[in-house]
Amino acid sequence: MEKDLQRFYELYMRRKSVRRFLDKDIEEDKLERLLNILRRAQSAANCQPWHFIVVRGEDKERLNPVFTTRGFVDAPLCIVACAEPSKAWVRKADRVNYAWVDVTIAVTEMIGAATAEGLGTCWVAAIEPTGVKEILSIPADIDVVAIIVMGYPEEELKVEEKDRKPLTEIIHWGRW
Ligand SMILES: Cc1cc2nc3c(=O)[nH]c(=O)nc-3n(C[C@H](O)[C@H](O)[C@H](O)COP(=O)(O)O)c2cc1C
Repeated sequence: MEKDLQRFYELYMRRKSVRRFLDKDIEEDKLERLLNILRRAQSAANCQPWHFIVVRGEDKERLNPVFTTRGFVDAPLCIVACAEPSKAWVRKADRVNYAWVDVTIAVTEMIGAATAEGLGTCWVAAIEPTGVKEILSIPADIDVVAIIVMGYPEEELKVEEKDRKPLTEIIHWGRW
């Protein structure tokens, strides 16, 4: 395989959920690159029904009570990913609102880029959204989809085997 391509796949395979972080801030230029990946993400009908709140420093101290994992409290930064359903594309046939799908795509792309930047991330869904909205003054019609904690990982990210279903169980060729 071509070297660049090999490196690309390796980077993807290095990603894992990181729950312990070094006491080291994320550089501003790195953060800006990652935020631009969020901005450039694809979304249904290009509706971009999203908002992302960068929380660090004193603001993160206020948010920390929502985490039950010690490492998440220690993470230098987190991004609260929010959906704005009223701005999203809705599929006519079944009225499915794509806001959460769009937010998830943007965040997933950013997580890939964060891995390439040498950062560790963890998607945190097990939070109490009402509390998060209150702490961060998020309007009532906005959904908190996830909090992505981020920082330099305590342990180096390596390509490792994953506890995953085999392809034969999840891929269907031609029909179910
Ligand atoms: C939608 C979603 C929600 C998750 N929520 C949490 C969470 O609340 N707390 C946590 O520690 N990990 C959470 N994770 C991380 C998963 O546990 C993790 O992705 C999974 O175990 C696979 O491990 P890996 O990410 O290291 O490959 C979440 C992941 C996803 C995609």
